[in-house]
Amino acid sequence: MPGKDEFVVTPYEVRGRIDYARLREKFGTQELTPEILSRIRTLAGGSLPPLLARGVYYSHRDLPALLDRYAKGEPFFLYSGRGPSGPLHTSHLVPFDLCQWLQEKFRVPMYIQITDDEKFWARAPLTKAEAEHWGVENLLDLLAVGFDPKTTHVFFDTRSIRALYPLAVSAAKRIPYSTVKAVFGFVPSTNIGLVFYTSLQTAPAFYPSWVSGKGVPCLIPCGIDQDPHFRITRDVAEGLGYPKPALLHSQMLPGLLGEQVMSTTGEQKDNALFLNDPPKEVERKIRRAFTGGRASVEEQRRLGANPEICSVWAAWRSKFAPKEEEFDQITRDCRSGALLCGDCKGMLIDRVQGFLAHHAEAREQWRDRAEDLIIESPPELAKG
Ligand code: TRP
Repeated sequence: MPGKDEFVVTPYEVRGRIDYARLREKFGTQELTPEILSRIRTLAGGSLPPLLARGVYYSHRDLPALLDRYAKGEPFFLYSGRGPSGPLHTSHLVPFDLCQWLQEKFRVPMYIQITDDEKFWARAPLTKAEAEHWGVENLLDLLAVGFDPKTTHVFFDTRSIRALYPLAVSAAKRIPYSTVKAVFGFVPSTNIGLVFYTSLQTAPAFYPSWVSGKGVPCLIPCGIDQDPHFRITRDVAEGLGYPKPALLHSQMLPGLLGEQVMSTTGEQKDNALFLNDPPKEVERKIRRAFTGGRASVEEQRRLGANPEICSVWAAWRSKFAPKEEEFDQITRDCRSGALLCGDCKGMLIDRVQGFLAHHAEAREQWRDRAEDLIIESPPELAKG
């Protein structure tokens, strides 16, 4: 067990109170500075999305070099993914909302990986059929954030294995067991699927380079918990003759019950807003959500509330108040005591219900088309 101030973050375990600045140091990643953000803003034509402007993304690897090359006319591609183990909640959209924005502003291709194999190996009770079912359902949710079907491609691990396997084979040969054991904290009873798995998560980062026969830079937006996989990817890249991918890391969003992470492992269904929650559920969950409010209305009017610890404010910040003026207004009125938690929750309930209704429609429009985006085998010319 970690000590009082200790915490553990790996792709398979998040434990303890996370100190994000220290985590960046532990992982050896770089700070996403105002200078880098302002370069992104310029290259994107003058705007930044909430996830970048408000500090949800806070860390990176090698981003400035990728931006330099882009500015000189060298395109890159985006890659992110999802391990399907159940219905998605709003925090699962964080990497994909950012990718969609980047795809649109930078006009670059997107590769999504759905790792049904990984979740089958990682989650004991999950059957293969369930992982595949959730893979299809999750994919519709991810595409519904607005990806461009012409430049979006999907690896669905159990169906795309012919495309991924040659690269995974090359990567696996260069990854010693001692590395995965140390990086992921594997124990003797860990199944060997997971021991091999990281080479499959590496494969998409090299895929466009492999099939085109020339180095294509890759940018991976992901939660910081996924960084251990990509440290390995970056370690093997050079030896295989591919560019090291650049990374953009986000913090994990806090849960509605005041948990530091919006996770629902262990029956904490009220800790998250699922994308398929009916309107009544949304209302019930937000009504009981943890806030930074005071003990009484009188006290709150006098002293104001504390947005930094509030799960409702976190929802405004990351997604539901996209316009800066509105977000600033909510934050100011919260701090001053002008806005009470009940009213703020009422506003958020409306906003989330509106979003989910729109989302439900958008995802169903993908149902017949998602299949077409899945890459099943590499083009003939790919070699090596
Ligand atoms: N391992 C990720 C998960 O458990 C899924 C994943 C695959 C991924 N490829 C990725 C996440 C690339 C971020 C970026 O959800």
